[in-house]
Amino acid sequence: MERDPIVTKPRSGHWSDAYPELGRGPVSLDDCVSREFYEKEREHVFRKNWLYVGRVERLPRKGSYFTRELGFASTSIIVVRGKDDVIRAFHNICPHRGNKLVWRDDPFEEVEGQAPALYCRFHGWSFELDGSLIAPTRKDLLLDFDADKCRVPPVQCDVWEGFIFINLNPDNTETVRDFLGELAHEIEGYPFAGPHQVYRFKAEIQCNWKIFMDGFAESYHGPYLHAASFGNLTAAAKAALEAPNPFTDALAYRLEGLHRMFSFAGEPSRKTPYSKPIECVFEASASGPWNKKIDVGSLPRGLNPTRSESYGFDSFQFFPNFVLIFGASGFTTHVHWPTGPHSHIIEVEMFYRPPTTHKERLGQELTVTFLNDIILEDSSPLEGMQAMLNSGAIREFHFNDEELLVRHLHKVVVDQVNAGEEKKGGGK
Ligand code: FES
Ligand SMILES: [Fe+2]
Repeated sequence: MERDPIVTKPRSGHWSDAYPELGRGPVSLDDCVSREFYEKEREHVFRKNWLYVGRVERLPRKGSYFTRELGFASTSIIVVRGKDDVIRAFHNICPHRGNKLVWRDDPFEEVEGQAPALYCRFHGWSFELDGSLIAPTRKDLLLDFDADKCRVPPVQCDVWEGFIFINLNPDNTETVRDFLGELAHEIEGYPFAGPHQVYRFKAEIQCNWKIFMDGFAESYHGPYLHAASFGNLTAAAKAALEAPNPFTDALAYRLEGLHRMFSFAGEPSRKTPYSKPIECVFEASASGPWNKKIDVGSLPRGLNPTRSESYGFDSFQFFPNFVLIFGASGFTTHVHWPTGPHSHIIEVEMFYRPPTTHKERLGQELTVTFLNDIILEDSSPLEGMQAMLNSGAIREFHFNDEELLVRHLHKVVVDQVNAGEEKKGGGK
């Protein structure tokens, strides 16, 4: 059924009036400091939901594969394109005696490549790309052996719009498309498919994964934390720091089940009175290369949902840890992998159209450098913040109305953990 999403601020002037179930009061910060909570989160959130692991362009041919080290689940997985072109995932383990199947110099380093089969170098057994056994070595020594029981253990795998997801819960019955729900359906049709020019970076940060995600769920911090980077934004907004800010207040907030998005204003992808000389030379700025701007009018209805002229970015947070951000000329993914209650790995990938001239390439590099600086600014308070949250000096967050999505993330994580514990009979 066609339904009008809530994308504009309620008449009252408060976003929270559209989502009263989230409340307005202080919120416990225990989910960001407690080791006990983290163990439950691993079990009930990360081992139960669909998790984004990479784009299909990483598997261009039959036999293309990559591995992912999933420390939070104490496993490694292989994602591989089969001879039938189906993308599958497996635990990275040989069913003979448990050797790690695919790795090179360091067993804990992720690898990618292409192979006709999965081969175990311990005793030389080989497996088809669908996980079935091709041949053990020294068949004459195998007694009471059933080849059907000796398969590389599968992991559920599904693809939505070229994004590959895995699910470590063997009892899951929901497709990834159903799981991602309405927010995802309304951005289908975006030109996601490659080839892309991809820019990547990855870092481990000593803070809980949620407090980094929180920074991408509101733009309220823009004129303060990013004062140095957004010269034009702060120049225009300085006089009004205590008033509604048209450059940083969200254009739209939307919550759908476990997932959330917001649309916010930003620097237009074109020359402005604030454009720096280097930006004019390369014709690129924070929102991307000026000459590669995607036609806003042609976007799927879920993007720039208010059809605002001052549209800058849309930030989608798909539960639990996958952030998909759209700018004027491409999309960016952030994935947050917990490595402990107070640490996680962030992986950033920026996808642009392949440049056709040196100038375009340099323009992309300029945008990427700018965005990297912004992300570094976003991460700059987090390790000190985590240390102070751990001190126990405060017990609650005090979110404001522009921090609606932050409130939502913590609520749905805590709700899933509590539901999982109840199901186990542990209660809470
Ligand atoms: S452990 Fe793989 S062949 Fe023996
Ligand atoms: Fe930020």
